Amino acid sequence: MNEVASVSITKLSPHTGAEVRGIDLRQPVDAALVARLNRAFVDHAVLVIRDQRLAPAEMLAAVRLWGDIFRQQDPRFALPECPEIHYISNQDRFPDGRRYIPGEGYHTDHSNAAAPPKATVLHAVKLPDRGGDTQYVNMALAYERLEPSLRERVDGLRAVHVYQSRHSERKLMGLSATARAAVPEQVVHPLVRTHPENGRRALYLNPIRIEAIDGMTEPDALALLDTLLAHATRPEFEYRHRWQPGDLVLWDNRCLLHKANGDYDMDQDRYLYRVMLRGDPPV
Ligand code: SIN
Repeated sequence: MNEVASVSITKLSPHTGAEVRGIDLRQPVDAALVARLNRAFVDHAVLVIRDQRLAPAEMLAAVRLWGDIFRQQDPRFALPECPEIHYISNQDRFPDGRRYIPGEGYHTDHSNAAAPPKATVLHAVKLPDRGGDTQYVNMALAYERLEPSLRERVDGLRAVHVYQSRHSERKLMGLSATARAAVPEQVVHPLVRTHPENGRRALYLNPIRIEAIDGMTEPDALALLDTLLAHATRPEFEYRHRWQPGDLVLWDNRCLLHKANGDYDMDQDRYLYRVMLRGDPPV
């Protein structure tokens, strides 16, 4: 049984990320430690749990310590033996033969859902010798450090999110007709959201999915989104995760943007399991 006394939680940067050691997620976790892990997730936004070796079903059981499973949008990436778990791989290609690197470019996951996932979890299965880091930027800190006049301007704005914004530089794989039918045409979310568990306000941006801002012309909306993204992705708001074998990383989509880096030797595999956890409609 995993217990609080045997677990250490250490910050990985002044504002984002903590490393968890001394836990084996294949074993039961007592109630006090479940509470401690959920608190740490809210406090640090990224939890890096080292030295796990989880089969898909074990990963699914483990992540339920933090919430319920959210169904991911594109079933082509589902593991046949455990469809709630998807994979991330650098070996897939677009229909035209170009390599597909999932998660390149800053984004937050599935913000085109009415109730987007509160968390995403990745578990490293195969990693390149170097590179392939995941970068996170803290949107609560970015919001707090906006010029007060800009903060006032964005408070109360609402953005339209779609599966694939026509403004996005990064192209997603197209969905099958069945998968497309299960995804809303569009949803509207506040541009600044309040974290339901700690009350902190955070920018809620997504360059891949935001199509428009209610009540603004397209040029004004795009200029504002560019300004906000340039501010929010400054290095002072970043925690950069360098993957180690056995890492299980859980992050809070309600207050972070993240991106993958396709900067490594593509003859080497980068393969991770991916699960999401249900969240609330942003307010
Ligand atoms: C993702 O965006 O979910 C994937 C991130 C990564 O592969 O590092």
